[in-house]
Amino acid sequence: SLQDVIPDRAAPNGSAQQLPQTIIIGVRKGGTRALLEMLSLHPDVAAAENEVHFFDWEEHYSQGLGWYLSQMPFSAPHQLTVEKTPAYFTSPKVPARVHGMNPGIRLLLILRDPSERVLSDYTQVFYNHVQKRKPYPSIEEFLVRDGRLNVDYKALNRSLYHLHMQNWLRFFPLRRIHIVDGDRLIRDPFPEIQKVERFLRLSPQINASNFYFNKTKGFYCLRDGGRDRCLHESKGRAHPQVDPRLLNKLHEYFHEPNKKFFELVGRTFDWH
Ligand code: A3P
Repeated sequence: SLQDVIPDRAAPNGSAQQLPQTIIIGVRKGGTRALLEMLSLHPDVAAAENEVHFFDWEEHYSQGLGWYLSQMPFSAPHQLTVEKTPAYFTSPKVPARVHGMNPGIRLLLILRDPSERVLSDYTQVFYNHVQKRKPYPSIEEFLVRDGRLNVDYKALNRSLYHLHMQNWLRFFPLRRIHIVDGDRLIRDPFPEIQKVERFLRLSPQINASNFYFNKTKGFYCLRDGGRDRCLHESKGRAHPQVDPRLLNKLHEYFHEPNKKFFELVGRTFDWH
């Protein structure tokens, strides 16, 4: 049969694996999966399904670009390959390594309100524990220490966007990094995706009709050639109720860092 004559990793006619011409570098819980799925609506985009963790995990990076290439989907020559690994944005070693692979690469960064991102980050880890039937402390136990905001909580650091952005800007000019407004992507995805199409110089092929609001999910879902699909149930989860005074402290904590970030990127965002 045909199966016997086609070698194992045979590529469909003329297609090949390519190193990514664009990477979604983060931020964790920013809406990276939604961005990847929405971008994949474009016929000229080929996306790696899983998070590849090439530049941030030594056991992967040490295997070289050949290994990285082997993780990429088969694509036609005119297609753009994209992968997403949200941990890249906050890993100090990663910018130099990405630059080493391709200094002209276009980067996508999706950010959302830093306080909201902290709650989402907590919620993610909470459910990871629930799945393994392991107990997990309340969010207050992470956020508060000695009656003050516990600034050592890792999730807080990941929301200090200016610190991480500085690392990237040492290696890439701002025009190579497109920032997607993750809060807007939730409320009204199409305009945000159009901006991404333009940044990547893709022909405008994604349409407003590719998105519909799903009342049950409370989020936009995708319509692709008559096929409807929403993101996995782990995307768009309810966040814990936090005492308004504590939430206020969180907003205050991010106020100055946010200003610094706005200056760094020459643009403001509608964050608390
Ligand atoms: P929450 O689950 O905290 O609401 P990531 O993919 O980077 O982990 O980001 C997950 C976040 O994507 C979700 O966080 C959700 O708010 C956001 N998101 C954006 N658009 C979405 C969509 N259409 N469906 C579901 N989640 C979406």
